[in-house]
Parts: sequence; structure tokens; C-alpha cells
Amino acid sequence: MTPAAASWLESPVPVDALLAHYEAKGEPGEVVEVPVARDGGVRRVLLYGTGDGSAAALRKAGAAVARRAKGRASLSVVVPSEGESAALVEGALLAAYTFTIGNGRTKPVGEIVFVGGDERELKRGEAVARATALARDLVNTPSSVKTPAWLADQAKAVAAESGLDVRVWEEPELGEFGGIRAVGQGSVSPPRLVQLSYTPENPRAHVVLAGKGITFDTGGLSLKPTEGMKAMKTDMAGGAAVIAAMSALAAFEAPVRVTGLVACAENSISGSAQRPGDVITQYGGRTVEVLNTDAEGRLVLADALAYAHAELDPDVVVDIATLTGAAKVALGQSLAAVYSTDDSLAAALVDAGEASGERLWRMPLVEDYRAMLDSDVADLANIDTMKSGAAGSITAALFLREFTGGRPWAHLDIAGPARAGSDEGEITKGGTGFGVRLLLRYLTA
Ligand code: BES
Ligand code: MN
Ligand code: ZN
Repeated sequence: MTPAAASWLESPVPVDALLAHYEAKGEPGEVVEVPVARDGGVRRVLLYGTGDGSAAALRKAGAAVARRAKGRASLSVVVPSEGESAALVEGALLAAYTFTIGNGRTKPVGEIVFVGGDERELKRGEAVARATALARDLVNTPSSVKTPAWLADQAKAVAAESGLDVRVWEEPELGEFGGIRAVGQGSVSPPRLVQLSYTPENPRAHVVLAGKGITFDTGGLSLKPTEGMKAMKTDMAGGAAVIAAMSALAAFEAPVRVTGLVACAENSISGSAQRPGDVITQYGGRTVEVLNTDAEGRLVLADALAYAHAELDPDVVVDIATLTGAAKVALGQSLAAVYSTDDSLAAALVDAGEASGERLWRMPLVEDYRAMLDSDVADLANIDTMKSGAAGSITAALFLREFTGGRPWAHLDIAGPARAGSDEGEITKGGTGFGVRLLLRYLTA
């Protein structure tokens, strides 16, 4: 017990006896509530367990105390002076995240004040939470507001605030980006391509991040059923993670040059929408037979990947996308799938995932399945033409690989964890901001 905490507990019962009385085990997430006399009234002290003191345990502990203070105006959290207390701060702030338009039902704690702890750790935890909250805000914004132009404007605002360079392509400059144009052509809100650049002095390497920025996915003419369409404002979560992670690079003094690409389009249904059977030309000249307009994420990402290869000379390319329902079926909502052509890149990302609390599971790029994407009329088809109906997440990854030019590349399919159905630990219902913490870890390690 730190002096700051002890000053609150002027209890006639010693802390040890209190904890024994409540049978507290000190597990992470465990909270014992003690009423104390203070300032002439009764106040509450929360004694929280920290388990083994690991980042994961502290993250869980922080989230638990913040949740216990739900609806209160303010909470003071006494931070341990040792260990990865950034995780405690991160957990508390993220659990207290809310997004409402008008009078929503969620009422988290109004304000959290951190007492004690290492200043650098506090700053780190706050910066990570702020970036994640930005991604959540972007995801949670309804698609009636969130057009591709709006998303590009948000990226511009972030760039101005965080010292990034920004370029936005719109028609007619999108000419060569045939995938982005084809997906966006059915919408009254035209597509955009966003490029954000972070350039430190003497960068160690150049990493390109490419995010799927589908601001709403109806499926297009291959229309989704109502149930499947309901949460499709989430379909720009990969792009949101790219924008949000990049917003914090300067604060973290990331030692690598990073270029972020966000391919923004609304996959809408209308008389001008692309049709199943259309053949499009991706950036760089490859043709694709679009057999299912709902497999649109790979079309916009293929342009971004081909452009990165041809124009940006990256050492590493990482894309992040709510790409397939199949990834969600395979891994559920806790983990994202990672595919990679490079073992050390895959390992670095998996490690960053473990450390940040955003877990990845490596999946195989099964060579045998590549032939499923052969088209009779074009260089490639955008879905499995053998109608196997299997391995949908793998075939999507194999499609993307075609556009990477053989550079070290990883693909994160975040269709599962991008959105949560309920509050859990530091995760809040709705957009989770998945990928921000993991990418920041990877880029600043
Ligand atoms: N945005 C969806 C994937 C998705 C599904 C994300 C569920 C989050 C939750 C993507 O554009 C899509 O529709 N993929 C299709 C591909 C299929 C047509 C080959 C899918 O997964 O069904
Ligand atoms: Mn789709
Ligand atoms: Zn989609």
C-alpha cells in the first residue's frame, strides 16, 4: 500500500484484515469496495488486485476499477510505482471510453485522475488510450456521417494535429486505382485514397500500413442480408487503425518511416454499382473478374498494395482489414488472423500482439488454394471460382498477396475483433479500435 492510498484508508480495521475478511485473492480484475469516513461523509475506496503484475494483469485491473466507478463523477487511481503501469492507465481509460450522440445509455466514470506512478508510464498509457479512442470514434460514427470524403477529412485533421504529411486522391486523380473506383462507383459519396506520412530523422526502415476504409458495406449488387449488414459501418476499422496508430507516432518517437494508406469507398447498391461479372483493372494493370461485389475489401486494398510496391519502395508492408466473415468464424472476436510471407515479420507482429493485449493467430497461405482464384477471362477472380466455399479468409489473403510484388508483407484480418458485442475488460461495446495498440507496439519496439 502506497502512502497516497494509505491516507485514504484511515480505517479502524487494518488493510490486511479487511482483505482477509472479503476473502480477496489479489487477482487481476478483483475489486474490494470499502466505505470510509471522509470529509464528513462516506466515500468509497476500491482495493484492486494486480495478480502477477504483468501488463495483461494491470490492464485488466485498470479496466475493473474504472468500471466499478461507472456513473460517478470522478475516480482517483493510485498507480503502482513499479512495473508496466502504462497498462493500468490504458486499461482504465479504455474501459471508461464512451461514444454517444445525444443521450446514450452508456455513462462511464466522468473523469479519472492518476495518483503517483512513473510519469513516462502515465504518458505512454494515456497516448495509447487516446489513439485507440480515436479509432473507436471513427468506427462508431454512423455511415450517414462517415462518407469517404468525411473519413479523408478526419485523416487530414489528424495529420495537421500530429505533424504528418497528407495527400488525398479523389476523382479524377483516382484514374489508375481501378479497384477503389469500381467499389465506389455505386455510391453518391465518391471514393478517396488517403496517404499519411511520418518521417523521422535517420529512419531504420520504411513500413507501409494499408487499411481497408469501406465506410459502409451493403455488399453491393451481391447484397448482404439485413443481419449481416447491420454492423457494416465497422468496415473501415482497418483504415481507422492506420489513421489512429499514425496519430501517435511522433509522440512515441517511432524510429521508422511510416506511410499509411487508407482506401476509402462506400460499397453501395444502385444503378451505377459494379456488376458481378465485370472485369476491372487494378493499379499496376492486373485485371480482376469481380464475381462477387461483396468481396470488395480486397479490391480496394489491391490498389493500395500495388501502389505501395510500385511507388513507395517499402521494406515492409502490413495491411489491416475487416476482410472476411470466415476469419471471424475461425477465430472468434478475441483474436485477429495474421498471414505473412515473412516469418520474422509474422513473429514480430504476434509478439506485439501478445504485449499489447491485441492477440494475433498466424494462419497459413496455402499454396494449393491459389488456383481457386484463377479466372477464365481475367488475370484473377475476386472469389473462389471452384465454389469450394471453404477457407474464405485464406483465399482473400492469397488474393492480396498477388499485389505485394514479393515484398515482406503481412495481412491482418480483423473482421472478428474490430467490433465487440459487449463490454469486457478494456474493450467497450461497438468499435474496439483493434490494431492500434498492436501496430504502435510493432512500430515503436
Ligand atoms: N466486410 C466484409 C467482411 C466482414 C464480415 C467483416 C463480417 C466483419 C464481419 C467483407 O467485405 C465481405 O463481405 N466478405 C465476404 C467475402 C465473400 C463474398 C467471399 C464474406 O466474408 O462473406
Ligand atoms: Mn463485403
Ligand atoms: Zn467489406
